[in-house]
Amino acid sequence: MSTLPNPELFVRWFREAAPYVHAFRGRTFVIGFPGEMVQERARFARFVHDVNLLAALGIRLVLVHGARAQIEAELKAKGLRSRYARGLRITDADSLTAVKHAAGVLRVEIEALLSQGLPNSPMAGAAIRVGSGNYITARPVGVVDGVDYQYTGAVRKVDGAAIARRLEDGEIVLVPNLGYSPAGEVFNLAWEDVAASVATALRADKLLVLCERLPQDRRGEPLHELTAREAEALRKRAGAHKDLARALECALRALAGGVARAHLVSRRTDGATLLELFTHSGVGTLITADPLEHLRAARIEDVGGILALIEPLEADGTLVKRGRERLEREIGNFQVIEHDGVIVGCVALYPFAEERSAELACLAVSPEYRDAGYGERLLRSAEARARQMKLRRLFALTTRAQHWFLAQGFREAGLEALPEARKALYNWKRGSKIFVKRL
Ligand SMILES: CC(C)(COP(=O)(O)OP(=O)(O)OC[C@H]1O[C@@H](n2cnc3c(N)ncnc32)[C@H](O)[C@@H]1OP(=O)(O)O)[C@@H](O)C(=O)NCCC(=O)NCCS
Repeated sequence: MSTLPNPELFVRWFREAAPYVHAFRGRTFVIGFPGEMVQERARFARFVHDVNLLAALGIRLVLVHGARAQIEAELKAKGLRSRYARGLRITDADSLTAVKHAAGVLRVEIEALLSQGLPNSPMAGAAIRVGSGNYITARPVGVVDGVDYQYTGAVRKVDGAAIARRLEDGEIVLVPNLGYSPAGEVFNLAWEDVAASVATALRADKLLVLCERLPQDRRGEPLHELTAREAEALRKRAGAHKDLARALECALRALAGGVARAHLVSRRTDGATLLELFTHSGVGTLITADPLEHLRAARIEDVGGILALIEPLEADGTLVKRGRERLEREIGNFQVIEHDGVIVGCVALYPFAEERSAELACLAVSPEYRDAGYGERLLRSAEARARQMKLRRLFALTTRAQHWFLAQGFREAGLEALPEARKALYNWKRGSKIFVKRL
């Protein structure tokens, strides 16, 4: 019997992956990939085995494939040229024939790979069925700016119920990049359009998009997590990287359509799909919908929202009164938490550079949002800002939230803890308690 080269590593990996295996059972994942991937035969065979493995773990899978490379190859072999306008193929009759051929060949090849179950293959004994069909209703792109796109189409409708029935039966569903019109015509579609539409129609738990290039920051470092907002900014900057721009657009559309998570995964890394799904750090880019609440620097338009939040607290003496004018002047010191467009929390930071400290003030969370960690998030973000300014201490004056500050690592201090300029302003009548935290 052969021994494992590194049993500890194997056990550690298995334990790390186990919670994901459990969480993914019965979930619906849509995986979209370009036709190019199929051309790299050995790597593609390993990818399909991984897909088979996911299915064997009880994940409901829909595969959406493209065929750009195959269409190009066929047209070239026939001495024909592809025509594009605005980055979109103009599918004439010859191109449409190539699209149909590619869909047929790819279906057979993918089905063959998914059927492998020989004793010495990775999916020995597994008998996973593949279903394909006319799930996509398409419409022609039509004539745009005087250009007739002919048989180039866009998704009009997805028969999600039919796909779901196949999934229910334990099949993997394979959807090509073509669709049919009610008049019986065939249209060539962008696989990214199909993948986003299918994921949306199924309300998939995940959409995985295999792409050539993964998102990077300006220094070329990989970006492992993005919010939809960040992904949109990146898409606008993607410029020459059309493949990345399209992958991001596909992911963003699915998220807007209610898909919980989208992952971009490198199509060139062996096992990338498994690594992305079953390891904590992942190897791709996870894109999530923007959280409903959002912590950010306050803007002048927020003054009304902040006033609505703090006026009741000023009225009952919890917070010191500051009028609209002062708030407008000091808006640069504020940060807010916005929930679905409404200001539900705020905090202000007033630095005293000489003493290398800052006052944390006007911390408030709207009553219906309390005890959900918003206060702590506002504090953490104020602390981070103070650290950025190379400050060493944070202090706060409060009459009602002493215990909250103690729980957050502050300690009570005397008047001497305040910077000279702040001491002079201390309101003896108010009698606030002073709390200090080292950063
Ligand atoms: C203080 C305040 C900002 C906390 O906001 P929050 O979002 O509810 O805070 P968090 O969710 O991070 O923390 C909640 C925890 O703090 C406790 N807490 C909240 N306010 C408290 C207070 N005044 N005194 C003691 N504990 C308090 C909660 O009971 C909860 O404890 P738990 O986690 O054990 O259940 C909020 O209560 C508020 O707006 N108060 C009025 C304004 C104020 O007093 N500001 C401070 C002066 S600058």
